[in-house]
Amino acid sequence: MAQKEYKIAVIPGDGIGPEVTREGLKVLKAVASKVGFEYRTIEYDFGAERYLKTGEILPDSALEEFKKMDAIYLGAVGDPRVKPGILEKGILLKIRFGLDQYINLRPVKLYPGVWTPLKDKGPQDIDFVVVRENTEGIYLGIGGFLKKNTRDEVAIQEMINTRKGVERCIKYAFEYTRKRNKRKKLTLCDKANIFTYTHNLWRRVFKEVGEEYPDIEKEYAFVDATSMQMVKNPERFDVIVTCNMFGDIITDLGAMIQGGMGIAAGANINPEGVSMFEPIHGSAPKYTGKNVINPLAAISAVGMMLEEIGEEKGAKLVEKAIISTLSSGKIKDLSTRSGLHTDEIGDMVVEEIIK
Ligand code: IPM
Ligand code: MN
Repeated sequence: MAQKEYKIAVIPGDGIGPEVTREGLKVLKAVASKVGFEYRTIEYDFGAERYLKTGEILPDSALEEFKKMDAIYLGAVGDPRVKPGILEKGILLKIRFGLDQYINLRPVKLYPGVWTPLKDKGPQDIDFVVVRENTEGIYLGIGGFLKKNTRDEVAIQEMINTRKGVERCIKYAFEYTRKRNKRKKLTLCDKANIFTYTHNLWRRVFKEVGEEYPDIEKEYAFVDATSMQMVKNPERFDVIVTCNMFGDIITDLGAMIQGGMGIAAGANINPEGVSMFEPIHGSAPKYTGKNVINPLAAISAVGMMLEEIGEEKGAKLVEKAIISTLSSGKIKDLSTRSGLHTDEIGDMVVEEIIK
């Protein structure tokens, strides 16, 4: 049988997106030849430039094409020339929703040699994963105005959760916690004391599904307390499952305690379909073309992609290469002030891979 050739859609996107995905793809190439798998990339120019030129954001036909891929690799979207929300909703959310990528997986892991703002905490303390629900909640954008632009204006934005949506997310989180096989603890992060309908549903489903996982320790934590604990005692977490909105917020906090946006990656997963991998940082317009952004987050996203498509060996190789690059001490800072160029850091990781 001929060897499988993976088809990977690449959307470099806006700002520094193309610079960091270039490094990610360099690493992918090195891993593929080392491990021995075939792949093909298909590049798409969706983003601000195309929108400003043609008015097109992301046509439905592209979504149909993506459905035939093995994965999607995304740089970043967002541009100061375009009203906030247009590209984010039109590209990022359209793909998440359109391909039913109902899990947003965001590891919060402090690698050795990386500085954390948390006093007296090290890699042994900061190692957990956030399972964020990715297709429901406030993100559905359902709501409206009444008497807009008057003193009597009413604005409503609905938080919607479905039994099916909550259940599949919680099931995924329990399975993931079991497979991860670390502390075997799953924390439900919510605000059930205030969101007495939606988060009441989350709690009921968590309890019910949890009965099938006697080997997993269960914990409930309100989102405000979760934020506090992430700073005070991050070692108490193994896997956190949470709704779309809270997952968005606590993973930016998570990124900061793991060394910053220069290292944090995420996966938008449809376990039965096509998933998308991205650094969680934005397009950082003011650094565009300066070759100063750390590409490790985008490289780490390649590792997550390999894991998800079943190239575990390649995934491990990427993580090992990131760890050795970081512990070499050559990267003093993961921010734009590292004194290193984007492509130099990419080269360092490639070096570690081909070693
Ligand atoms: C993220 C981003 C997006 C989100 C924005 C750009 C819509 O902040 O991936 O976390 O809120 O999900
Ligand atoms: Mn976010």
